Amino acid sequence: MVNLDKYSSIFIANWKLNGNSSFLKHYYEKLKVNSNNCTVICSPSIYLKSLKVNNNNLFSGAQDVSSFKEGAYTGELSASMLKDNNIDFCLVGHSERRQYFAETNGNVKTKSSNLIEENIIPIICIGETLEEKEKSLTEEILSTQIKNSVPNLANHKNALIAYEPVWAIGTGLTPTLDEINEVHEFIKNYDQKFINFKVLYGGSVKSSNSKEINDLSHVDGCLIGGASLKVDEFNTIIS
Ligand code: 13P
Repeated sequence: MVNLDKYSSIFIANWKLNGNSSFLKHYYEKLKVNSNNCTVICSPSIYLKSLKVNNNNLFSGAQDVSSFKEGAYTGELSASMLKDNNIDFCLVGHSERRQYFAETNGNVKTKSSNLIEENIIPIICIGETLEEKEKSLTEEILSTQIKNSVPNLANHKNALIAYEPVWAIGTGLTPTLDEINEVHEFIKNYDQKFINFKVLYGGSVKSSNSKEINDLSHVDGCLIGGASLKVDEFNTIIS
């Protein structure tokens, strides 16, 4: 399992349903990883084998995994298959999966625990909708998500949490810096066991705001969607 304690910051690119072979080739020709940080590229699963890794500060990640370990589940990929292909990270419970694929906290918990058993680090995504934020329900929603989607065997060495407010994803909107730091502090204080967890922020991170977000005392890195597709922009973010 990757030693998360080694890095000052962790930057995860979530390409979502984007990319092709020539995009990949161009991307890695230009990608410049920073030696103090951990960089993870999460591509669509068909490209996972083509991602470049150096097992030092550049790794590959999947965007999802099956809740099942094996059997008659057409179209699924198991945690052990990811491990067999040297994948070290996997996003779980991204809001797009919760929203469009009806993924529940229970699914996220099962997937995360299957990943940890295979020594793959789950990046467990949580976050509130705009409606929930406007009703001041952020802490309540996050508490429910943490309680029900983070498995008991997760700890700060084998799992990551990503706070992605749903309303900030792909919109250009972000919470204020104070709000981000307060929410991250809330997550780390939710229970004694989360104090040392690395908590990443995601939602409209770009080169113009990544430094001030990542410099916040309770932020340990960023999860980047749209801006991770532009390699020059991503290089600035991770530099
Ligand atoms: P954007 O960076 O495009 O807002 O997406 C964030 C995200 O969903 C990363 O997982």
